[in-house]
Amino acid sequence: MSTKILMVCLGNICRSPLAEGILKGKVDTDSVLVDSAGTANYHIGKQPDPRSIAVAKKHGIDISMQRCRQFTAEDFKRFDHIFAMDKDNYANIIALAQDDREKQKVKLLLHQLPTEDQEVPDPYYGGDDGFEHVYQLIDMACEQLAEELNLKHTV
Ligand code: 4NP
Repeated sequence: MSTKILMVCLGNICRSPLAEGILKGKVDTDSVLVDSAGTANYHIGKQPDPRSIAVAKKHGIDISMQRCRQFTAEDFKRFDHIFAMDKDNYANIIALAQDDREKQKVKLLLHQLPTEDQEVPDPYYGGDDGFEHVYQLIDMACEQLAEELNLKHTV
């Protein structure tokens, strides 16, 4: 594995499972490891939210095999890049970093998109259209990320 990428949200059942599935679909998974985690412990061991599974399926991606886990300080050692869905997640991750090198691994997933606040909004308490919006934001970000980190399929 040459590059290891971790997607992080709050619950690891809505946004980061989508980010994991979407990025995996854009890169060579023999050489790029993509995983996801949540800063909270509410849903450990659970499948992604049915609304995330459904919106991914609509776009041809199966995320139903994923299981929720919590972010830990060990993840700074295992991963090269850690992408937070929003600023709260970012702050919670940074709070666990031991030094500047670990802090520098953390970015907002939307850091390179010209959106107003560079956050993927939490869709948990909203309707299904929120999940489609989140899908589109994450898909755009992952497309740019795959370019930026030179992870795209070569064939
Ligand atoms: P996620 O969404 O952070 O995108 O997985 C949420 C999932 C669960 C909760 C909040 C946000 N919750 O409060 O249980």
